[in-house]
Amino acid sequence: MGEYRRAYERSVTDPEGFWRDAATMIDWVTPPGRILDDDNPPFARWFPGATLNTCYNALDRHVEAGYGARVALVHDSPVTGVLTSYTYGGLCDEVAVFAGALRRLGVAQGDRVVIYMAMIPETMVAMLACARLGAVHSVVFGGFGAKELAARIDDARPKVIVAASCGVEAGRVVPYLPMLDAALDAASHQPAKCVIFQRHQHPGSLRHGRDVSWAEAVDGASPAECVPVEATDPLYILYTSGTTGKPKGVVRDNGGHAVALRWSMKSIFDTGPGDVFWAASDVGWVVGHSYIVYAPLLTGATTVLYEGKPVGTPDAGAFWRVASQHKVNTMFTAPTAIRAIKKEDPEGATLRGRDLSSLRLLFLAGERLDPQTYAWAGDLLRVPVIDNWWQTETGWPIAASPRGIEELPTKPGSPSFPVPGYRVRVVDATGADVPAGEDGSIVLRLPLPPGCLPTLWGDDERYVRSYLSAYPGNYLTGDGGRFDEDGYLYVMGRTDDVINVAGHRLSTGAMEEVLAGHPAVAECAVIGVADPLKGQLPRGFVVLKSGVDADPIGLEEELVALVRAQIGPVASLRRVDVVAALPKTRSGKILRRTMRGIADGNEEPPPSTIDDPAVLDNLRPILLDQRGR
Ligand code: COA
Ligand code: AMP
Repeated sequence: MGEYRRAYERSVTDPEGFWRDAATMIDWVTPPGRILDDDNPPFARWFPGATLNTCYNALDRHVEAGYGARVALVHDSPVTGVLTSYTYGGLCDEVAVFAGALRRLGVAQGDRVVIYMAMIPETMVAMLACARLGAVHSVVFGGFGAKELAARIDDARPKVIVAASCGVEAGRVVPYLPMLDAALDAASHQPAKCVIFQRHQHPGSLRHGRDVSWAEAVDGASPAECVPVEATDPLYILYTSGTTGKPKGVVRDNGGHAVALRWSMKSIFDTGPGDVFWAASDVGWVVGHSYIVYAPLLTGATTVLYEGKPVGTPDAGAFWRVASQHKVNTMFTAPTAIRAIKKEDPEGATLRGRDLSSLRLLFLAGERLDPQTYAWAGDLLRVPVIDNWWQTETGWPIAASPRGIEELPTKPGSPSFPVPGYRVRVVDATGADVPAGEDGSIVLRLPLPPGCLPTLWGDDERYVRSYLSAYPGNYLTGDGGRFDEDGYLYVMGRTDDVINVAGHRLSTGAMEEVLAGHPAVAECAVIGVADPLKGQLPRGFVVLKSGVDADPIGLEEELVALVRAQIGPVASLRRVDVVAALPKTRSGKILRRTMRGIADGNEEPPPSTIDDPAVLDNLRPILLDQRGR
């Protein structure tokens, strides 16, 4: 543990020296003088007074250093049959022109741009073009529906929205413009313009006066130069699910983000310039932001943008085909994707004949990595499998085995150790550290390292309330777990109402809001129940208004369709039961955790605060019923 221990100790005893050194991997306009401004706790700012441009660091500097012909981006799209690549020089030119197009539409430094697109290169071009101008992008995952999109538009208040005309899912085209129209009809904020990238699979009809096609937007646009911004200026906002229906706008700054991601590529992912890095995720999630777009490009590596699924596009060998065809060195995906492959191809037959000799490491994150999946992937691929734990808020791993520092033994079920920079604690309800082997709430001592959220967009008060008030001086991760005697961390699951469905973070509160909006529904609850493939799946329970006599099957169909349209298909809500009553405490709080425990097959004694135990007894058989699973 020598090298890791040394790096970790330095990061906590001399954080400013540690991150000053890491900052030399970034090109600055004004290099950092002061490293950390911690004068106004609980808020902290990294590299105050320094200036840089993130797009310059991701593209231009590699071209200027003579690597313009190196492949920056491979777009591999089995769902459309397209395979293209961009060199650093080519991508830089496209980004500069699209930045010029955005500027012509009025986008300037600090303006927000919402991006609602698919897994296509133009999404990355739009993100990097915003970074070039010092504008703030907010990418909305293509699997989200109108209500989620509208909430993000109203919070971010974009000057321009960039959308694709459609997404392409396995065997299905998803038109985006009807969702954009519905979102803008519902939103109180309206952008000045929408730029629509027309895909030939489903070109959309443009709204006169509001929409301009991507082709028209770039026609005759002059390339824009990189605008220097403060290290502490926002680069992007990424909305994530909290416990309520209102998503949280996680802010990422420019300087700390660039330093942390570049450092993480070297020290955690052991990936350098010229290596091929493939994060099989989606640009709409944090893994996509950090490890499809920014980190590989900041490093001068080649990134793979894969528009497909682990299975069904066309088969369970798709990942192995991509990894061998593009000579991928480092791969990153979610455990659920590996479980999907294992289910269809348990013997790994689709791997036979594939040359995966370039592959050095497989990183898995997004949900708990169960020991069976860990073992299966390691046995099949014969490369180290590295579990890493983090969240949208931090933007890069909190716990992992840092492969670029030292090859430490891993343990199944554990994402290993705190990454340098993170002071991870497991505490009890009073905030005291619990002994090794005991479960508690996982918190991070402030200040957080560079790259983590400095606040929530426009809402310092909610930032403090949500994350910093439960244990003053610490950041609440929302996850529970423990350390073992050897210092390995085990992350067992959320302690709040956030659920994780196929590696997608979703709010049960948001789904409850949709169900409660139905005229027949008096009250409702949504819980996440264990699922062998997706990790968790939501289940809904509704109590009807008195006097309403709805057909339960018909109502279930309506409610499922409503959630699909408003939140998006990715919510994967398939089952909603009509029940007589919901179990509550005497103060009226619905006993969601008890319901979840019963549904997962645990011994779950009713809490002493329960109002009417008979309600829970009546619900038990429904909770245990496996219909639809
Ligand atoms: N745009 C539109 N619709 C989308 C979408 C997108 N970007 N992404 C998903 N959807 C839709 C799917 O088509 C599916 O629709 P359906 O109900 O009509 O079938 C629904 O949302 C649920 O999608 P998903 O959760 O992806 O489930 P699936 O059954 O299609 O596939 C897996 C299951 C495990 C193969 C898939 O979830 C997967 O690849 N997961 C990896 C997760 C991941 O990369 N997470 C990111 C964090 S690292
Ligand atoms: P997201 O913000 O979408 O990245 O989701 C973050 C949440 O996913 C975390 O708070 C955890 O609950 C869960 N998660 C992510 N990675 C892991 C992991 N390696 N082990 C356990 N849980 C994880």
